[in-house]
Amino acid sequence: MSRPRACVLLLSVMAALRLLPRLLPVSRTRLVRSHSAGAPVSVPARIAEKRRAALLGGGQARIDSQHKRGKLTARERILLLLDPDSFVEYDMFVEHRCADFGMESDQNKDFTVFGGSLSGAHAQKICKIMDQAVMVGAPVIGLNDSGGARIQEGVESLAGYADIFLRNVLCSGVVPQISLIMGPCAGGAVYSPALTDFTFMVKDTSYLFITGPDVVKSVTNEDVTQEQLGGAKTHTAVSGVAHRAFENDIDALLNLREFFNYLPLSNRDPAPVRKCHDPSNRLVPELDTVVPMESTKAYDMVDIVHSIVDEREFFEIMPSYARNMIVGFARMNGRTVGILGNQPKVASGCLDINSSVKGARFVRFCDAFNIPLITFVDVPGFLPGTAQEYGGIIRHGAKLLFAFAEATVPKITIITRKAYGGAYDVMSSKHLRGDVNYAWPTAEVAVMGAKGAVQIIFRGKETDAEAEYVNKFANPFPAAVRGFVDDIIEPSTTRIRICRDLEVLASKMQSNPWKKHANIPL
Ligand SMILES: *[C@@H]1O[C@H](CO)[C@@H](O)[C@H](O)[C@H]1NC(C)=O
Ligand SMILES: *[C@@H]1O[C@H](CO)[C@@H](O)[C@H](O)[C@H]1NC(C)=O
Repeated sequence: MSRPRACVLLLSVMAALRLLPRLLPVSRTRLVRSHSAGAPVSVPARIAEKRRAALLGGGQARIDSQHKRGKLTARERILLLLDPDSFVEYDMFVEHRCADFGMESDQNKDFTVFGGSLSGAHAQKICKIMDQAVMVGAPVIGLNDSGGARIQEGVESLAGYADIFLRNVLCSGVVPQISLIMGPCAGGAVYSPALTDFTFMVKDTSYLFITGPDVVKSVTNEDVTQEQLGGAKTHTAVSGVAHRAFENDIDALLNLREFFNYLPLSNRDPAPVRKCHDPSNRLVPELDTVVPMESTKAYDMVDIVHSIVDEREFFEIMPSYARNMIVGFARMNGRTVGILGNQPKVASGCLDINSSVKGARFVRFCDAFNIPLITFVDVPGFLPGTAQEYGGIIRHGAKLLFAFAEATVPKITIITRKAYGGAYDVMSSKHLRGDVNYAWPTAEVAVMGAKGAVQIIFRGKETDAEAEYVNKFANPFPAAVRGFVDDIIEPSTTRIRICRDLEVLASKMQSNPWKKHANIPL
């Protein structure tokens, strides 16, 4: 039961792009002048001239300076990002009301009036295309590069921002929204990317912050550079605001293309399926020995994911943030899946605030867009300590639990090793409507690890108590006899089993009780 529809749709996709905001007024100034100075020009000639001027953007000098900074122009970016000849530009002729005012009183060349008034028209263009995107069910991609202009914010531009924010919120869960930050983005403008599903950044040339280094210095007396405050490294590794960072414009756009192929066009479409050359019945023999005998020894969950998914292709999301949890997109027998996994290599794969939030948001994206979830579990529990308790691990951990429980997409879980305590419940257990839950022979589904349990039960006195505990509890059988895991499988067969299950689950229908919306613990 393959579903080739999505492939065709992917080719005919329409993207709503936010263009360099400074393109229009500059070209327009020149246009109006040339037109008003000469003899009357015919309508077709005027159309042609305006198009030509718009295509030139800010002129060759500006194009050169953009290139010197290692950046591409908006048009070059579009060429790289989209399929050849697929970009149809709307609103090329939109001009700003205040710009007309500027031309009337020709002496008024104040950039602050001009630049500030710009946002109104810019925002209207964005809103118009977003409204259409929701109507036809097309993802919205924003390429954000303000060119470093410092816009004096008039009320009109505030209104413009809010108009966009509202669209971002209304689009959320209807069409995927992706922001690629390719230049500075500061002040209120940051909230549009923040409201979208994924924010990608270009290293060294993009910044996101609410208040820049100068204001920070005057208010908190902190010395900080733009890069430290809101560069790609900060947002991918510390704040968790951005989901990936790329080397340069070209790398970013090509990765965005690759990423886009994983997504359905809207919540009305199933997860895309594309032709797969990796056999669905491929055994992965190395998995039979991948989990170390000593249950305290680490291994790399990303390696396991690579070996199981189609062509070893895994598009990781937030790879530098909360690395104890891995999330990302891959394909199984051609069908997009969302992958989550505890990472035993980092903090033993325990759950904490950061990883819970990272995982929860990813689960909710997948659930909103019909992308099945595959969860690899090796979790010793929640990270103990005052930092976590004071930080609200109860509230934040609840997000992940909530997201998994609420999700109605196909959910397949593989317990590779530890599934201890409350963390066992949280990680897409059978009890949270997991559809198929597998355990590898190395799985230990238990209230806690043997050492801790023995200390509590026997106060560490009995020497052979630990072995007894392991024998009795720290294995997959107690869960399997109760049906909490559906099967104990040979690890090498994991890919085969998942591919089969996804076929069966493709027609899964499940719904939650009617509600206006749920109240996830934020
Ligand atoms: C960045 O894009 C948003 C829309 O996503 C837009 O509102 C904003 O004007 C852009 N940022 C700047 C600084 O121009
Ligand atoms: C969670 O993220 C914050 C902000 O980046 C960081 O300071 C903290 O160390 C992280 N916590 C853990 C347990 O990694």
